[in-house]
Amino acid sequence: MPLKKDSLSLSSSAISYLAGLVRIPGDKSISHRSLMLPALASGTSIISGLLEGEDVLATAAAMRLMGAEIEKLDSGDWRVKGVGLGHLKSPDQTLEMGNSGTSTRLLMGLVASHPIRATFDGDASLRKRPMSRVSDPLRDIGAKIESSSGEKLPLTITGCENPKPLDYTPPMASAQVKSAILFAGLNTDGTTIVREKTSTRDHSERMLMALGADIEVEQGDDGSRVITLTGKTPLKATDITVPGDISSAAFPLVAAAMTAGSDITLVGVGLNPLRTGIIDALKALGADITVDNMHEAGGEPVGDIRVKGSKLRGIDGLEVEPSTMIDEFPVFFCAAAIAKGTTRLTGLHELRVKESDRLAVMAQGLRANGVEVEEFEDGLIITGCGDSQGNGKVPGGATVETHLDHRIAMSFLVLGMMAEKPIALDDARAFHTSFPTFVELMNGLGGDIK
Ligand code: S3P
Repeated sequence: MPLKKDSLSLSSSAISYLAGLVRIPGDKSISHRSLMLPALASGTSIISGLLEGEDVLATAAAMRLMGAEIEKLDSGDWRVKGVGLGHLKSPDQTLEMGNSGTSTRLLMGLVASHPIRATFDGDASLRKRPMSRVSDPLRDIGAKIESSSGEKLPLTITGCENPKPLDYTPPMASAQVKSAILFAGLNTDGTTIVREKTSTRDHSERMLMALGADIEVEQGDDGSRVITLTGKTPLKATDITVPGDISSAAFPLVAAAMTAGSDITLVGVGLNPLRTGIIDALKALGADITVDNMHEAGGEPVGDIRVKGSKLRGIDGLEVEPSTMIDEFPVFFCAAAIAKGTTRLTGLHELRVKESDRLAVMAQGLRANGVEVEEFEDGLIITGCGDSQGNGKVPGGATVETHLDHRIAMSFLVLGMMAEKPIALDDARAFHTSFPTFVELMNGLGGDIK
């Protein structure tokens, strides 16, 4: 049973090691797309392994309000009956997106090229997040977007009858921006092109191919890619298996890597190469990680990850493209706090516009728990607490402000496992957005979260 949503406070205490084998819940990014895209197809698709976190449920509710039939079956799978491309209807109430930036930005793309009107709103965290990265290009295709709060939620978007195809180079590495434009291109006559300077997670491209969209991807040797989509091609209903979320796997992964004697296996984790930066980053700190049983499911590479506790040491810079581990930095900072020596990480400005300002909030929470951290514009320098033997505990003992950010909440519960005194959260509800079974899963492996 997932922990009740109204359990406000949680704390995590030191453990000796983690052990066991667990299956990681469904990938959040793929789950959103596996509701949105089959909802545009004609016919019925069955989705298995869908993440039932609040963010994904917000997407399901929004797609229902725009005409799709989405329901959970007794088997645990989900059935999506699509409306057919071009047939979304105006929702008769505000689309409440909760904490979910992905739902909001991708759905804005879909609405933009349909002759419908929708108002989007969200919680206090989402209301602070920039939407101009999506609304600017969507205006160029012809959508009208109004907001009384400076391109932030709540905002109303009126899509257009005859959208113009875009040829767009996003100014930042963002799979959400790329996907919003491609999704708008689906119901647009002509060829929509997105030119990425740095490749970002390609779940949209993979799923669009599986559903029969007319899409081509050209991968450059320098990490860039050009995605070309010809619109008005009907999508075919297709069953989808959602792999486990590597962003959720990152929490037990770090927890086990930093506790000597641990040995855990995470089964069925999505290992899309544009998402696996956390594995390389942890290996660079000295973690003992092996990947096994590689196979394909739902057009995505999947495998099992085994991690054993080891001695971690700080690193000066990371040879990993930040977009391949963008959501895993908070928990990676915790691994750096346990390591021996200093870790310096730069190029992370995008972390400031996530569910919270993750550089500032992590620096604040780490310092409150006795870790020396220097924060600068696009990164952090973390002085690890590791002693001459390798890993060392952080002092701990403080209550961390989570700012409605699920990844901040879970990161500090992981850090508590290697703290002299328990680490508490001011409000633990946030993890329901992406990992409702987090506490049970971690405690099942040997965690002490209560
Ligand atoms: C996501 C893309 C990333 C990531 C987010 C999910 C997606 O955001 O941080 O959690 O599903 O496309 P950006 O596009 O802002 O980098």
